[in-house]
Amino acid sequence: MPKIISDFMLHARELAVRGHGFVEPNPMVGCVLVNDQNKIVGTGYHEKCGEAHAEINALNAAGPLAKGATAYVTLEPCNHQGKTGPCAQALIDAGISKVVIGCADPNLEASGGGTYLATNGVEVVYIDDELCKTILAPFLHRIRTGFPWVICKWAQTADGYIETPEGEDPWISCEGSQQLVHEERGRVDAIIVGIGTVVADNPSLTVRNAEAHRTPLRVIVDPTLRLPHNSTVLDGEVPTLIAHGKNVDKTAFTNYPVSFLELPEVDGSLDLRPLLTHLVNKYDATNVIVEGGKTLFEHIFNQQLANELWIFTSQRTIGNENLKNMTQLFNAWDCILENKQPCGNDLVCRYHVK
Ligand SMILES: NC(=O)c1ccc[n+]([C@@H]2O[C@H](COP(=O)([O-])OP(=O)(O)OC[C@H]3O[C@@H](n4cnc5c(N)ncnc54)[C@H](OP(=O)(O)O)[C@@H]3O)[C@@H](O)[C@H]2O)c1
Repeated sequence: MPKIISDFMLHARELAVRGHGFVEPNPMVGCVLVNDQNKIVGTGYHEKCGEAHAEINALNAAGPLAKGATAYVTLEPCNHQGKTGPCAQALIDAGISKVVIGCADPNLEASGGGTYLATNGVEVVYIDDELCKTILAPFLHRIRTGFPWVICKWAQTADGYIETPEGEDPWISCEGSQQLVHEERGRVDAIIVGIGTVVADNPSLTVRNAEAHRTPLRVIVDPTLRLPHNSTVLDGEVPTLIAHGKNVDKTAFTNYPVSFLELPEVDGSLDLRPLLTHLVNKYDATNVIVEGGKTLFEHIFNQQLANELWIFTSQRTIGNENLKNMTQLFNAWDCILENKQPCGNDLVCRYHVK
């Protein structure tokens, strides 16, 4: 790809990700309009679900300067009347001469924008950009599979432990890492944990000290409904769902502000796929974080449901074989490193599961 195209598309991608947490279940999209002198005349991104698409914001920013310009857009412009009008027509009406598309739209309802532009005299170039596909991955995955994008997140010591010995500091990652997790919680639709983690840690599973663009649903996987009645997740602060197995007695929870979902069994464990489908159908979920513990991660691994691993590794070591360690399970995952950066004393890695 010529550098000029990749530079403008990079800019469009940077704009697109600003919508993360605001636009879902819509895709994150960015658009850059460039004149024949290769000067940017307008930029825009999809800022909020139900509001103007990236192309419209860029056209509004450019005004009359859009005439004759090239549009670099991360996703194929839509061709349908949804909550907003079709972008393909708006680009034609504004006199755009060429549209460079980072990724074709697999959403049948909205696709066809490229063809419509081409049949109306606009030059259309698809570049099938891997990085555009990366930022669109949760949206594309949801369309293809009916499941939300599943991010498995954990904090581990340098030797792979996710548990600390009793009486020792229970925090594995540093404050900066915890802050990153809260920021991400404020962008996703659900936080899922196993009952073992609730019993051991009594977590709140809420967004704290960070901007909440949306309120994630708390989901507890609890086959036999052994959730202690004094658990913080029963405080009603945010919506909470308990996914359980067959033949459980829910009467003891009648007065608690929680909903329930019965899951079938597969190979002796709860089938988590109907849970994911339920999160899409009932809660319109696009992204969910699984925050442990190890047993739930093992089920996610066995059922091949993880899309991304987000691992915070501290410099601490534990070396106690009686405690839960993620090294073996992590090594079994077929994944590629996408991003690696320090955060305080921790190393933060994101892996894409193949
Ligand atoms: N460092 C970290 O990032 C991190 C994160 C979370 C937790 N932890 C630590 O990990 C420990 C808890 O881990 P854990 O492995 O014991 O607990 P867990 O994974 O939180 O919960 C395990 C339990 O959840 C149920 N479960 C989950 N998925 C299931 C499925 N598909 N089918 C059937 N049952 C399912 C089972 O409940 P039943 O036993 O009732 O059948 C299972 O025993 C705690 O010490 C906690 O502090 C660390």
